[in-house]
Amino acid sequence: MGRIHRLLAAMTLEEKIGQLNMAAGSRVVTGPGARGDVEEGIRSGRIGNLLNVWGGKEVHALQRLAVAHSRLAIPLLIGLDVMHGHRTIFPVPLAEAGLFDPDTWERTARVAAGEAGADGVALTFAPMVDVARDPRWGRMVESPGEDPWVAAEFAAAKVRGFQGRDLQEAASIAVTTKHLCGYGAVTAGREYASAEVSERTLHEVHLPPFAAAVSAGTAAIMPAFIDIAGVPMTANAPLLQGWLRGRHAFDGVLISDYNAIAELCNHGVVSDTAEAAALALRAGVDIDMASEAYVQGLPEALRRGLIGMAELDASVSRVLTLKERLGLFDDPYRRGAASHTVSGLAAAARQLARETARRAIVLLTHRNGVLPIAPHARHIAVIGPLAFARHEMLGPWPSAGRADEAVSIVEGLRNALPSCRIDHLAGAGTAATRKSAISAAVESCRAAELAILCLGEYVSMSGEGGSRADLGLPDGQGALADAILELGKPVIVLLTCGRPLTVPWLFERADAVLATWFLGSEAGNAIADVLTGKFNPTGKLPVTWPRHVGQVPLFYGQRPSGRPTKPGERLSSTYLDIPATPQFAFGHGLSYASFTLDELRCTPIVAGADDSIEVAVSVRNHSAIGGEATLFLFVRDVVASVARPVLELKGVRRIALGPGARGTLTWQLPVASLAFVGDDLGLVLEPGRFEIHVGQSADPDQLVRCSIEVVVPGARPAGS
Ligand code: BGC
Repeated sequence: MGRIHRLLAAMTLEEKIGQLNMAAGSRVVTGPGARGDVEEGIRSGRIGNLLNVWGGKEVHALQRLAVAHSRLAIPLLIGLDVMHGHRTIFPVPLAEAGLFDPDTWERTARVAAGEAGADGVALTFAPMVDVARDPRWGRMVESPGEDPWVAAEFAAAKVRGFQGRDLQEAASIAVTTKHLCGYGAVTAGREYASAEVSERTLHEVHLPPFAAAVSAGTAAIMPAFIDIAGVPMTANAPLLQGWLRGRHAFDGVLISDYNAIAELCNHGVVSDTAEAAALALRAGVDIDMASEAYVQGLPEALRRGLIGMAELDASVSRVLTLKERLGLFDDPYRRGAASHTVSGLAAAARQLARETARRAIVLLTHRNGVLPIAPHARHIAVIGPLAFARHEMLGPWPSAGRADEAVSIVEGLRNALPSCRIDHLAGAGTAATRKSAISAAVESCRAAELAILCLGEYVSMSGEGGSRADLGLPDGQGALADAILELGKPVIVLLTCGRPLTVPWLFERADAVLATWFLGSEAGNAIADVLTGKFNPTGKLPVTWPRHVGQVPLFYGQRPSGRPTKPGERLSSTYLDIPATPQFAFGHGLSYASFTLDELRCTPIVAGADDSIEVAVSVRNHSAIGGEATLFLFVRDVVASVARPVLELKGVRRIALGPGARGTLTWQLPVASLAFVGDDLGLVLEPGRFEIHVGQSADPDQLVRCSIEVVVPGARPAGS
């Protein structure tokens, strides 16, 4: 008999349920819920897992209670939201997505896993791969953006990075891919609201990232808080048991979201805790995070016959298997061992943080050659509440990141321009101080050659519980910007944000605007690298940037409709008061260099299901400086049995080109990847014409295209 069978045979009901119970530790509080005596719970076997604790000493003290003082000596599983770094903080996921670089996504997760493992953590509640198309939803910041293909690549890269080659290693931590699914589609972008998503959209948009995570070996998955069409995900047996465990053979652990099992009562689908516990367990949820609904409800659910012991044992066995895979039985103290204890940021991790952060910055607009800042600049005014705000740079879910180890924008500029006078004023704040603060800021700018405005969202406005109905600048920042723009000096705006902000007037009036997101520990240095031209910007938008909140949800992969958008034509799909087009397309991001694409070649142009199309495009750098071009490969299924999106992303490639240089980028596009979700929700490849588009963004005016014909023996083209 193996270890797990032996343990199961020896466990009392209370001990079994303890293995399904994850209690909240004390270091950070990320939700409501019951908090009892954690130490006594561990000793008695009532608590088998913990979240929100880290630090070798603390973790080992708790682990000792489990291993040396509980009856069966089963080690604890310690989880934490290690999302974009642990002690070294990398850019928030939305920003990191804009690198379109799976290799870097993997490397940052690897570093985070190493640091978290060294701090005693064995499991992360990341990555979040909810496709996010509505910037009102605050958690867009945690997502890889609007595109399912990108989210799938991101999911797989993060699983590889966090879990490494061997989950037993101290430097590897188990992944909980979250939140299955549709959380990004909450009604009106309002946090925790219900989502109404069609089966097709679920399978085309929201589920593929989770399928990719399963293929990559994610150890765990977290269902979302929300309900889809009335079925809470925490109890969604068709998706959790049918789609995930059945169709995708996921045999890992399902961990509820914080307090979500108890919240089934609020959803109004159960009348008491026993029913809530039974519904979640039957749907396949193994671990109850923080609600104690399993502890309180499962014994009664067994008595009432709502669940059987076999279902409970299956969940316990999956949790024990994960502990075994993590090497916790062999050495529960491997993670958090003194020799690994994190103290300060390692130079290599800092370097990767700076590199990643500068590559995440998106140059949104640029006029009058205001950038890069001249090396002989003598006097710059850096204005705004986000200019000297180390804590704000870290972004939501900073894990063990410390503000005192982060670099603010002002500090980064001072490091980069030691002989330039750099004045700094916040310039905005409470209404009472606003007027005088603005006047002082204006005076400071009047005396300088250049103004850099550090505006945007505070970290508290983004992330969980960060839904906003107005996507403008908060806190009098608009008035501050307006007053400084009036001076007629060169103005560069840095937008700290976790989502697109709708500030069209700023894009029109400022000389340059950059999305600097929440860039992490090295934010200031990375920003200075870009502003001074030490690094030529390469970041691209992983989301479509709306002009106005009334346009959202706005994303490039829309269906054409019967009356496609025609600017100025009332009876087309448009608005009376604003254009239907975005402020910036998905993929937008300027460089100090400029690139053009030549004709696109696709070979062969007639292909069968097993073939691959070679797509080649030549790209030229027209400028006198070197730069990196990023090209997106989209397809369009011109005629199909259901209307297909006007563009679907299938690949992204980058190329570095010296001044005036030309190069070629090629993709191998498998014809099989042109399949789509058919009537039975399985993939179907239909014959007919497909357009292949390549461009520097999803802006239709920038794309070069060619057509291919797919031949599927025995199948008739749709519409014939
Ligand atoms: C969030 C999860 C997170 C959990 C634990 C919840 O409130 O929705 O994403 O993993 O808290 O902190």
